[in-house]
Amino acid sequence: MSADYALYGEIAVITFNNPPVNGLGLATRTAAVDGLRRAQEDPRVKAIVITGAGKAFSGGADIREFNSPKALTEPTLHTLIRTAEESAKPVVAAIHSVCMGGGLELSLGCHYRVTLPGAQVALPEVKLGLLPGAGGTQRLPRALGLETALDMIVSGNPVPSEKLPALFDEVFGADVDLVPAAVAFAAKIADVRPLPKVRDRQAAHADPAAFLQDARGRVAAAAGPFPAPLECVETVAAAVTMPFEAGLAFERERFMHLIGTPESKALRHAFFAEREAAKVPGVPADTPRRPIERAAVVGAGTMGGGIAMAFANAGIPVTVLESTQEALDRGLAAIRASYEGTVRKGRLTPEQLARRIALIGGTLRYEEIALADIVVEAVFEQADVKEAVFRQLDAVMKPGAILATNTSTLDVDRIAAVTRRPQDVVGTHFFSPAQVMKLLEIVRGRATGNDVLATVLALAKKLKKTGVVAGVCDGFIGNRMIEQYVRQAGFLLNEGCTPAQVDGAIERFGFAMGPFRMSDLAGNDIGWAIRKRRAVERPEITYSRTADLLCELGRFGQKTGAGWYDYRPGDRTAHPSAEVDAMIAAHVHGLGHAPRVIGDAEVVERLVYALVNEGARILEEGIALRASDIDMVYLTGYGFPLFRGGPMFYADTVGLPAVLAAIGRFAAGPHGEAWQPAPLLARLAAEGRGFNDR
Ligand code: NAI
Repeated sequence: MSADYALYGEIAVITFNNPPVNGLGLATRTAAVDGLRRAQEDPRVKAIVITGAGKAFSGGADIREFNSPKALTEPTLHTLIRTAEESAKPVVAAIHSVCMGGGLELSLGCHYRVTLPGAQVALPEVKLGLLPGAGGTQRLPRALGLETALDMIVSGNPVPSEKLPALFDEVFGADVDLVPAAVAFAAKIADVRPLPKVRDRQAAHADPAAFLQDARGRVAAAAGPFPAPLECVETVAAAVTMPFEAGLAFERERFMHLIGTPESKALRHAFFAEREAAKVPGVPADTPRRPIERAAVVGAGTMGGGIAMAFANAGIPVTVLESTQEALDRGLAAIRASYEGTVRKGRLTPEQLARRIALIGGTLRYEEIALADIVVEAVFEQADVKEAVFRQLDAVMKPGAILATNTSTLDVDRIAAVTRRPQDVVGTHFFSPAQVMKLLEIVRGRATGNDVLATVLALAKKLKKTGVVAGVCDGFIGNRMIEQYVRQAGFLLNEGCTPAQVDGAIERFGFAMGPFRMSDLAGNDIGWAIRKRRAVERPEITYSRTADLLCELGRFGQKTGAGWYDYRPGDRTAHPSAEVDAMIAAHVHGLGHAPRVIGDAEVVERLVYALVNEGARILEEGIALRASDIDMVYLTGYGFPLFRGGPMFYADTVGLPAVLAAIGRFAAGPHGEAWQPAPLLARLAAEGRGFNDR
């Protein structure tokens, strides 16, 4: 039973009871419909109140029923709403806290709505590439007018209940006890007939045709590749152009269409992937966590400064430790300048700036950070420098402090081994700019404690980041895969592409930024240093020489005003460079083969399947716990197009046999040595399965 039934004198009260947010799953719907029928049959009952126990009226459809036949099993949400709407006795929705999706659609089928202020009211379906499919597109415009309803349905954003007076028959005071107040309201209207129904109203607007025409243009421009926002406009339009029942049928049809689109599937995948990523085998939800009340960061460079800001933005006081006063002053000034830029853009008030700056301190002395609950090391990427820092931390930090490293490539186990507390050491790999980027790769060392992992996963959430757990290997999940992608981009230059052609193709595929623009932003010298190290450690790995030649020209990227592209002072726009074109042409000429014309499709396959093939290895080695974790890394840290759901999901939609066949073709091509298919990919393809249904 996931809804309770009780009598308050002549008023029946049905209370959803399906934690955490009273999702309208099958058991809850059944109990609610039973309650409504029972109230009809009981001659003592004059009116009915529907409300929710705990933290919500209702958060909408039960996400645990997504992709399951239960969602379509009677009583469906439609049936529940109709049962309320057609009740011979008045039905009052008593709304508090959260009223979203199907929960709001149900309340629109009720005859009356009462609420406490501050309830979050939304139809968020568009965020999953869908539209409200249980009458929301037809009833909300009739309740709130065309304009407000369209805004809510197209944006999916919550609106506090007190801002929607037209939706409610009464907004109680914040300190009112909701159920008794709703019962009193129900008693007051118990005899009023006819029963008011939202469906009988008109969707108000002075000039609906002009408004809708304008909305189509506006929404289409903002929707990018996603079909749902425009479908939302069209179904809302039906609330004015069609009779109610026809509008409902149209809504149903468009909903069923959207549910099958790859864009909606990708968004739903990402939605679940984010939740899954927080679950780590061996680290159950009740694993004890260490309190994080103050933090420290060692190194106030690009990353250290950003990481300190991420802590301050979450309200956590943080002390930054540097090796010289000059570096400390420079680092703190950079933090201030970054915040001031945000204030100039109007995204932070001067008061917020002052509060955040006040949370950030600086020091040159380890003793002053000894009491921090977590310290994140972000010094130079050199093993000896980092190991020296960790020896110091081991000597001074209080027992139980978490010692984290932001290393991009070094071995977390080796770093842990220089301390006497390897169980407290973990990798926290932030992405640049650390105060902005959502991804946090959490690197689990051999000895990392489960409570440390649980604490850092919770901290990621507090910092508003998506934490994804990775095992120890060179590059972890994200950078290990991107190396193969960047390697292919280089080979494409050897074979006849220009940087602009490669970037253009992958940006048309939907990436935020192609590999060459990305390298110019990050600094081409970083990859140069890595390749020099690789040349010693693993000389068998081949690369296009073009990136080294570029660095030999001193073209390190935006920071030197020249990289794969030319840049004008103070402007990040990438302009194709004659010098680079000539360098590449001379290199290709020296290779002794004729350049060929390479189309967008091949560029995309070469780059994306390089990610997929390495991702399959990472999965097989257990570096990533699941394919969807790899997708999360790429969606939140590398600008992979959200509407394609991440590299592994995308490979599943293409079909693994087709991916494998393409890899076979590339293996026979000019840089075939880079294309041994991952055993897991070959096996899943043979079994007719995908990465995400392992
Ligand atoms: P950076 O060169 O901008 O900053 C390093 C800072 O550490 C400098 O301010 C330096 O003075 C300070 N430092 C050096 N030795 C120190 C010591 N013994 N004690 C205290 N401070 C010391 O470097 P960046 O880019 O911030 O990188 C830092 C770490 O983050 C590296 O491990 C890097 O691999 C990693 N990382 C870098 C990313 C990036 O995009 N730049 C992304 C993710 C990780």
